[in-house]
Amino acid sequence: MLKTVQKLKKGLRGEITIPADKSVSHRAVMFSSIAKGECVIKNFSSGVDCHSTLNIFKQLGTNIEFIDEKTLTVKSDGNLRKSLSPLDAGNSGTTTRLISGILAGQNFDSVIIGDESLSKRPMKRIIEPLTLMGANIESVDGHAPLTIHGGKLRGINYSSKLASAQVKSCILLAGLKAEGSTTYTEPYVSRNHTELMLKYLEADIKTEDSSVTIYPSELTTKDISIVGDISSAAFFIVAGLIVQGSDFIIKNVGLNPTRTGIIDVAERMNGRINILDKRFESGEDVGDVRIQYSDNLKGCVIEGDDIPRLIDELPVIAVLASQAEGQTIVKNAEDLRNKESDRIKCLVSELTKIGIDIAETYDGFIINGKKNIKGGAELESYHDHRLAMSFYIAGLIAEKEIAINGFEWTKISFPEFEELVYNLS
Ligand code: S3P
Repeated sequence: MLKTVQKLKKGLRGEITIPADKSVSHRAVMFSSIAKGECVIKNFSSGVDCHSTLNIFKQLGTNIEFIDEKTLTVKSDGNLRKSLSPLDAGNSGTTTRLISGILAGQNFDSVIIGDESLSKRPMKRIIEPLTLMGANIESVDGHAPLTIHGGKLRGINYSSKLASAQVKSCILLAGLKAEGSTTYTEPYVSRNHTELMLKYLEADIKTEDSSVTIYPSELTTKDISIVGDISSAAFFIVAGLIVQGSDFIIKNVGLNPTRTGIIDVAERMNGRINILDKRFESGEDVGDVRIQYSDNLKGCVIEGDDIPRLIDELPVIAVLASQAEGQTIVKNAEDLRNKESDRIKCLVSELTKIGIDIAETYDGFIINGKKNIKGGAELESYHDHRLAMSFYIAGLIAEKEIAINGFEWTKISFPEFEELVYNLS
């Protein structure tokens, strides 16, 4: 689907509520399915990725029913059952990697398949540590489809080179059923929703700096209320900062400190951003965020421990940086090449078409900012939801109309995206 976007004639104003966090939604269904009992999950994501997880757990025997569009009940005896057909993770890396950790410790075999993009994403990062735990996994040269021969696992002490919440979560979930303790250490702390939710559900888990230790545990079923997705809010944070005359409030934004890199960077760049009414919900920080147009943005360096805290926001941060005085340098983000697309290469090729001064480096990009976005081009989304939405935000300030090919991929994480732009227009 080709979507055209024109420059806005006035600022964005009013109030929106951001839909549910994708990472937390996945985990809520997974963890409630392996716990014994019944619970209600409120404000579940309507994104296609989270529905892939939900359908997989139905296939594995969990009883999941919708009360309304975003509220569901999950009923389980704590045991999963073998699925005779393959488990289709669609486009979702989170689904694939996290359920691999759960399935490796079952007493049955499973096959996980996915779409073309997912089948290109690296799975060695989970196969290697799971194999050290005694798992038996077949792949196609380190890629999906994955055949997981379930069996007994043993705990390990593993130091990862990657700051990846998907790998960490996979190993911790395997550790729940392994013999002995499992310790996972990462170079920088990646998003910790797994640790927080497992603690909330009373697993035996401890964190110390960038290490987490889990002991075999039974989870206690509890109702879970899902906070709004800061990665979805990020598109509006950037829109508010760069569209002249904007001043609005984004309600119910998840503010877990392992995810708020976008807010820190926006502030570092002189963005006018205020957190209002900070609260706590089902183990997660949440609040409302006020964004105001900022005519005095400055470039900055984004690197090291910033990266896992804003990894999914880097495409839209590139659009923000195009409106900041001076240079913005993104380093140590090579894993961006392993996302739904090669987000370094694709971002640079497409933003260049609309007149943004951006250069590719092996582990990031460099932007020379404060130049008008010319627009007047058709951009390819490469089947990548976050690229499609980032290009849309650039279109809101581009001199000439831009067109985005494959805009329907936004449904992967944020089907409500365009409607919320209209609500503020
Ligand atoms: C996620 C972790 C991140 C992120 C992805 C969701 C998660 O991936 O990019 O969108 O829910 O654990 P990595 O762990 O591969 O960095």
